[in-house]
Amino acid sequence: MKLLVTGGAGFIGSNFIRFMLKRYDDVEIVNFDALTYAGNLENLAGIEDEKRYAFVRGDITARADLDAIFDASPFDAVLNFAAETHVDRSLVDAGPFVSTNVAGTQALIDAVQQHAVPRLVQVSTDEVYGTLGPDGRFTETTPLQPNNPYSASKAGGDCLVRAAVRCHGLDAVITRCSNNFGPYQFPEKLIPLIIANALEDKDLPVYGDGMQIRDWIYVEDHCAGIDCVMRNGIAGEVYNIGGSYDVPNLEIVKTILRLLDKPESLITFVTDRPGHDRRYAIDSSRIEQELGWQPAHTFDAAIQDTIDWYRANPDWVAHTRSGEYVAYYEKMYAGR
Ligand code: NAD
Ligand code: TYD
Repeated sequence: MKLLVTGGAGFIGSNFIRFMLKRYDDVEIVNFDALTYAGNLENLAGIEDEKRYAFVRGDITARADLDAIFDASPFDAVLNFAAETHVDRSLVDAGPFVSTNVAGTQALIDAVQQHAVPRLVQVSTDEVYGTLGPDGRFTETTPLQPNNPYSASKAGGDCLVRAAVRCHGLDAVITRCSNNFGPYQFPEKLIPLIIANALEDKDLPVYGDGMQIRDWIYVEDHCAGIDCVMRNGIAGEVYNIGGSYDVPNLEIVKTILRLLDKPESLITFVTDRPGHDRRYAIDSSRIEQELGWQPAHTFDAAIQDTIDWYRANPDWVAHTRSGEYVAYYEKMYAGR
């Protein structure tokens, strides 16, 4: 089976590539990535020489890049991880989000159709559903009510996939997953940022009252869910994937501090994010009951493994927290 993974130099894409090459002997993967600030070939360290893996630099918004990759060899499926992914960045400049997550998704749909690729997997997010009140969970029929440019652009991509299924018979499936954590996550997102700052005894910025709820899933469980949907999902359908571990951000931060044996005095409450979604929680019963997927990791074990990974990889952490990241951090957090 030959797969094209877009965005494979990012957090989840790189974990997916590692997961698939380890799980199956007959899988070949081409990683197609534009290498934005979030794309890092160090995330694939150790597998560059693997014969079943190749990297090609390319942009999903560029039809010429896509045509070149599809002309070079046939694929059994395309998995679209390529995206601009950070909500806070989308609040400062929505342009790249619309370009990659909306226009890029359409360019990929067009290329997949014209090159007759048998299946497209659109990797999406629970954030397209917007925010929950105190009760209930997102199901696949929850209306799309995105509340920030990131989630709006992901919803746009999902709607374009849906339209291509309806109008042109595209064979596509959409996954909508909750918040991931694990190795190789860029330290702009909550968990790696808190781990990296705490290791350096730096302030830990918690937005607003810290009582916003996210539903956390270990990245490897998400990868297994995507594999399951790619192989067994019904064309045109949506599958939610979640860890069923929904807790307030403050609890996550305190857990990390406890595991690192660092003081809670590092916690610093900062001005809230505009339009901040209050609660996410996923109902994964469809993928569990229809496709037989289940998360295989507990939060407690996975967060310990994640902390151990960041501790064991100081060079990766130092590298990702240099250059553009320094200016980013200053702009987003100074005086907040
Ligand atoms: P990431 O930001 O770590 O990586 C994104 C990757 O996409 C990078 O390697 C980047 O270089 C690449 N990329 C960006 N624009 C591109 C373009 N125009 N062409 C080609 N490559 C491009 O993101 P992630 O956290 O790994 O997320 C991957 C996917 O999973 C995204 O679609 C995201 O919406 C979705 N998702 C993420 C989470 C999460 O918690 N991180 C949860 C649910 C869904
Ligand atoms: P994040 O990792 O950015 O994911 P998302 O916004 O896509 O859910 O943020 C997770 C939660 O943590 C979210 O409620 C915002 C909050 N947060 C902080 O409190 N401080 C931070 O420095 C960051 C990055 C996020």
